[in-house]
Amino acid sequence: MRETRQTRAGSRRRTRTVTGIVVLASLLLAACSGEQNALDPAGPFAQGPHDLIVPVAIIAAVVFVLVQGLIIYSVIRFRTRKDDDGSLPVQVHGNTRLEIVWTVIPAVILAVIAVPTVQGIFEQMDDPGGDDVLAVEVIGHRWWFEYYYPDYDIYTANEMAIPTDTPVRLEMTAADLARSPEQGVVHSFWIPRLAGKQDLVPGQTTFLNMQADEPGRYLGQCAEYCGLSHVNMRARVEAMEPADFDTWVEQQSTPAEVPEDGTLEADGRELYNDLDGRQACASCHQVWEDEGDARAAGQGPDLTHLLSREEFAGAIHDMTEENLRDWLEDPNSMKPMQYEVNGIGMPDLDLSEEELDALVAYLLTLDPES
Ligand code: CUA
Repeated sequence: MRETRQTRAGSRRRTRTVTGIVVLASLLLAACSGEQNALDPAGPFAQGPHDLIVPVAIIAAVVFVLVQGLIIYSVIRFRTRKDDDGSLPVQVHGNTRLEIVWTVIPAVILAVIAVPTVQGIFEQMDDPGGDDVLAVEVIGHRWWFEYYYPDYDIYTANEMAIPTDTPVRLEMTAADLARSPEQGVVHSFWIPRLAGKQDLVPGQTTFLNMQADEPGRYLGQCAEYCGLSHVNMRARVEAMEPADFDTWVEQQSTPAEVPEDGTLEADGRELYNDLDGRQACASCHQVWEDEGDARAAGQGPDLTHLLSREEFAGAIHDMTEENLRDWLEDPNSMKPMQYEVNGIGMPDLDLSEEELDALVAYLLTLDPES
């Protein structure tokens, strides 16, 4: 009876172990597939790191097999036998020739790998040169990415539009203490299929080159733990044909339309600017309405052409009417571990149904295609 119970417990444990291994392996393999895959480069600046990863992985695999093979061979060949007399094997401690060999071989391997590695690091950061380089400033906030196009005076967030076959030079930093006291943390910008990975550091400027060969959507995320909502900080790149990019620039350079008086949308705009004693949207976000006004960075994402983006809130939610409403109604459940935990991010403004209707209606007008 007891044996049976033990056997059952044992087989349950085995089942659990096997399930654990299968789940873990699937998770690891899932990381290698799909759109966030450094092993599937889609441009020259991602090709560089890829061409380094592959040979280094091969060298590491050869070293691994050799070392493990020797260990397994020694364990079997020199195991304790029945007729063992208990004497020690020949000791090699202090054998100068052996010690030089196993010091020099790894040193040479590492030195050889270092040459293309250091070269690659500079290729990722150095100005690619040429007239067609697109400059984009990337600013890491808790928890979203801000993009500024200095040549066009365009602000956007989370989703970066770029033309194909054009080197993009990212000039990056993290929001510093001057702009927001709680923001001074390190983030990391990483679009695995388009570029290497680079940190965004408050008070410092880092550089990263990026390029897409084909139009498409390239996914990425903040790759440096930056606080409790770090996991909700994604990045997207929309690569488009140069002509489509010109259209995008034109749309983004046009001020937002002001809704007609007397409409629900106009009520929403009013609430956007004045929430009756509560913190108004306009205190953190900008909607650029007049060509004469300067565009400026806000504490939160620029909303001028909100609907030109496919996602919002750190690119974690699809830009749908329902999601926007849920977001305004209960931002803390839509993006956990932000405002309610540390006062950073989108606050719960305690909006009434009528206020939600009007604000969502207004946000939906912020569409350059309409
Ligand atoms: Cu930003 Cu992690």
